[in-house]
Formats: sequence, structure tokens, C-alpha cells
Amino acid sequence: MFLIVGGTGALGSAATRLLLQRGHKVRVMTRDPQRATVLKKLGAEVVQGDLRDKASLARACAGVDGVLAAAHSIFGRGAEASVHVDALGHKWLINAAQEAGVRHFVYTSAYGAAPTHPAQFFRIKYEVEQYLQHSGLAHTILRPTAFMESHAHMLIGQPILETGKVSLFGQGENPRNFVAAQDVAQFAVLSLTMPQMAGAIIDIGGPENWTNMEVVRLYERLSGKQAKVSHVPLGLLRVMAGVARPFHPGLSQVMRTSIWQDTTDQTFDPRPTLRKYPISLTRLEDWVEQQLASELGSMPAVAS
Ligand SMILES: NC(=O)c1ccc[n+]([C@@H]2O[C@H](COP(=O)([O-])OP(=O)(O)OC[C@H]3O[C@@H](n4cnc5c(N)ncnc54)[C@H](OP(=O)(O)O)[C@@H]3O)[C@@H](O)[C@H]2O)c1
Repeated sequence: MFLIVGGTGALGSAATRLLLQRGHKVRVMTRDPQRATVLKKLGAEVVQGDLRDKASLARACAGVDGVLAAAHSIFGRGAEASVHVDALGHKWLINAAQEAGVRHFVYTSAYGAAPTHPAQFFRIKYEVEQYLQHSGLAHTILRPTAFMESHAHMLIGQPILETGKVSLFGQGENPRNFVAAQDVAQFAVLSLTMPQMAGAIIDIGGPENWTNMEVVRLYERLSGKQAKVSHVPLGLLRVMAGVARPFHPGLSQVMRTSIWQDTTDQTFDPRPTLRKYPISLTRLEDWVEQQLASELGSMPAVAS
């Protein structure tokens, strides 16, 4: 039995589906079981749980062989802030897994996680990596780049499709890497099901690097819609991140992450990872085409 914490999310639901397709037993933990009705229909056991509730983590881990930690609260504030969910909640989950005799723990960190990172979220990811490494649990750490689902679609493509407008933090001219959650899920499933993956720390990224402005142009070309693009200048963003920090740490760290993404090298070369793990990676253009087809119900007209 595998436990997927964050099973209703982009990565967690893709991993759950893959595991079920391969005949494994899967338990999905969610704060609200209503969110997992489709996964339940597909055969997953669904349990209510919250990373901030120790007793629920003990219940979720009971009788489980492997855990995939695929939850996060990057945008959280108050009781849902990253310090509670991403830091403490994950340490509690590691403890609960250990106490329940879980054999393998797969932690989803993030590419760039480091103790000196300008955004707290990436410092927390590093802190949890360290906690897991010192726990004595057999583990694998996944370090994916930005997901196509959130960084290309939710933040850029979706606003264009729904409103014809998009607002970018910074100029959006810095090349960066996007990876499909489905591809990261393949690494997660490999890690859960192959004992020889214990100890591995895997940097994961998509096959190409794109700037945010190139993503805008891609959505325009594939949807046939013209986008009105506005830019929040980085200087203003720095001030806003400082002002927001005390009352909305999630918003503040998303802004700091955006500054980091717009000003430092965000490119990724997947070839070293692929030499070790022969996984077929999804191209952004193919992913967006599929997304548009499922959202619009048919393939969109491609402007020449
Ligand atoms: N998105 C990216 O670009 C990206 C890049 C690198 C790494 N990652 C990492 O990859 C993992 C998956 O990300 P994602 O984008 O697939 O996530 P997502 O789609 O944003 O989903 C977030 C998940 O977190 C769960 N969650 C939030 N707060 C929780 C809490 N207090 N207790 C239990 N569960 C909670 C939610 O479950 P319920 O709402 O059902 O409770 C949901 O399933 C995360 O660790 C993330 O940091 C993501």
C-alpha cells in the first residue's frame, strides 16, 4: 500500500493514477475527501488528514509500505503558512512514517532548494531534505523544476484564455525550465516501487527552456487569441514582497520566487538525469496542445 499525501494535487493525482493503473493499492490523504471522489472511483482509498494534525498522519501511515509527500502550501497564510505545513507538517509526516514502519519515503523537494535561497519556501524544502536524510528512513528526494500545470498554465495560459490578459512579474525574458507533473509522477512511481532508488536525489526538468514571454506567444499561437501583457517591475515587486511578508507570507514568498526566477539562471539540462532514468519527457508545446484540447473540447485552430 502506498500513501500519497497531496494526492489531489497535480503531481499526487498523476502518481495515484499511474500506481492504480499498475495494480498497486493506493491511499490518498486529503483535507477534504470530496476533492478525491474521482480518485476513489478509480480505486484509491481516501482518508481525511492534514499535515498540521499529527493524529491524522499516524492514521494515514498505518499499514503503508511507501509514502509520497506531494503536498505544499506555498501560498498559505496564518495557520496554513509554509512554516506550519511545508516545514513542521512534513517533519511530523516523516516521524509518523517512521513510527508506522514505512519502508520508503519519497519527498518532493524543488530544484534550487538551498539553505541560502532568497525565498523561504526553498529554504524550507532544503530543511526538510536534511531532516529526512538524518531520519534513518530509506528515502528518495525529487527536485523538479517549475510544473507546466502551475507556472505555464495557471499563471500565464489560463488568464490569457479566460480574460485575454496576463500580468507577468518582471520582464519575462529569462529562459526557465518547465516540467509536466505527469513526468515527475513517473519518477515518483519509480522511486516508490524500486528499492534500489533509496538514497537517490534526482534533479528533474522538462526537455526545453522557455521564457515567460515565449510561453505567452505559445498560448497566443495555439489558441488564436491575442494577449494584453502587463509587467510588474522588479523594483516594485521587491517593495511589495517586503510589505506583504508580515500579513501574507505566502504572497511574499511567491513574489520573491518570481524575482529569483526572473533574475538568475533557471535553465535545466535534462540529459544527465535521462542517462540514468530513461523517461520520456513531455514538450511544453505538446502539453499546451493537449490542455487546450481538453479545455476547449476539440483541437484549437493553429495560426500559421
Ligand atoms: N508546482 C510546481 O511548480 C512545483 C515545482 C517544484 C516542486 N513542487 C512540489 O511538488 C509537490 C506537488 O506540487 P503540486 O503543484 O502538484 O501541488 P498542488 O497541485 O498545488 O496541490 C497541493 C496539494 O497539497 C495538499 N495540501 C495543502 N495543504 C495541506 C495540508 N495542510 N495538509 C495536507 N495536504 C495539504 C492539497 O491537498 P488537499 O487540498 O486535498 O488537502 C493538494 O493535494 C509539492 O511538494 C511542491 O512543493 C511543485
